[in-house]
Amino acid sequence: MDIRTEKLEDLEAVRQVNIAAFDRETEANLVDRLRGIPSTFSFVAVQSDRIVGHLFFSPVEVAGKCPSNLSILGLAPVAVLPDYQRQGIGTLLIREGLKECARSGLQAVVVLGHPDFYPRFGFIPASRNNLRCEYDVPDEVFMVLELESGALQDCSGTVKYRSEFSIFE
Ligand SMILES: CC(C)(COP(=O)(O)OP(=O)(O)OC[C@H]1O[C@@H](n2cnc3c(N)ncnc32)[C@H](O)[C@@H]1OP(=O)(O)O)[C@@H](O)C(=O)NCCC(=O)NCCS
Repeated sequence: MDIRTEKLEDLEAVRQVNIAAFDRETEANLVDRLRGIPSTFSFVAVQSDRIVGHLFFSPVEVAGKCPSNLSILGLAPVAVLPDYQRQGIGTLLIREGLKECARSGLQAVVVLGHPDFYPRFGFIPASRNNLRCEYDVPDEVFMVLELESGALQDCSGTVKYRSEFSIFE
């Protein structure tokens, strides 16, 4: 299993992974809209020359109080081909993706996801860092991870995803 940055020739396969994993086109279309925006990161999991997983990060903003030089990313979407799920591929993709984001100097990552899945990477409820989600979701499903320890200590407010995420409305 190889985890690497997405290449230009991967785009169609990445699209198909998202469509198959979510059983709809919305997430694939979102990735196509976000790709190319500064501070987005796209990773693929490759097994026997086949793209079987995909992970995307895009920048979010905090409406509230936050140092202006702080870079926070939103993790979404993450997708693994149905036949390859529950084999550790999603976990590996996320671990490697987070490491790469940390290496690139990003300070924190938020995720809207399952509270049984993301804590294994160190995510905690974002409310503990005084951050709220712009969407009306249960507290425990909106989580945050500091890539740089203490990065969020002077931060509080509402996290806003990019306008492209209105595709879900
Ligand atoms: C979520 C997803 C990326 C995980 O990838 P994966 O390769 O199957 O995950 P792994 O094999 O590394 O880990 C599986 C673990 O995650 C848990 N898990 C994965 N998705 C879960 C979910 N939606 N709800 C609850 N638990 C989930 C499994 O219970 C399992 O836990 P365990 O390790 O304690 O047994 C994959 O299942 C997928 O593509 N799902 C459809 C798309 C989706 O829902 N994406 C996430 C929202 S953006």
